[in-house]
Amino acid sequence: DDKALAELVAGHVVDVPDFPQPGILFKDITPLFGDGPAFRQAIDAIVDHHGRDSFDVVAGVEARGFLMAGAIGYATGAGVLPVRKAGKLPREVHAASYALEYGEATLEVHIDALKPGQRVLVVDDVLATGGTAEATLSLVEQAGGMVAGFSVLIELAFLHGRDRLAPREVHALLTV
Ligand code: PRP
Repeated sequence: DDKALAELVAGHVVDVPDFPQPGILFKDITPLFGDGPAFRQAIDAIVDHHGRDSFDVVAGVEARGFLMAGAIGYATGAGVLPVRKAGKLPREVHAASYALEYGEATLEVHIDALKPGQRVLVVDDVLATGGTAEATLSLVEQAGGMVAGFSVLIELAFLHGRDRLAPREVHALLTV
């Protein structure tokens, strides 16, 4: 059930103070990726929550979202869309920038990454301010797709990232 899944994630995350900057409490989810049965349970729970028939493509945000999207794509037969940091993709791209605490960052997808109307499940390890997810939403729509929902392992609710994604569905295995 939901409580057991939240405990599963909570038991495989390490809180790291002052990383990557002083004052930030970093959620290190690598222990979950490193535990085969736990990782599989988390991936299966995400697929079950949304339903295999609700999406055509799964978009993973660089870098930790790639690990989740690859697993979900393999498990379901959906295609995988890597949402990359600026400058990594070799062909023409759509770009979306978002604010960081200092400065801004840009994410990109190839302009032909989606077919018209394809439904995209967006996954990442952590939803914090929602800037990354909102930029990904913009990229999916620029590429002619639509977002079927968002899934993360951990949502930092006090940063209200989900408000930027409304009215789309935002699912988190663990909310803190
Ligand atoms: C982290 C995390 C999300 C994003 C969430 O990525 O994996 O992608 O931040 O933050 P937001 O909701 O405030 O946008 P990070 O920027 O550390 O990149 P990385 O995965 O490449 O290390």
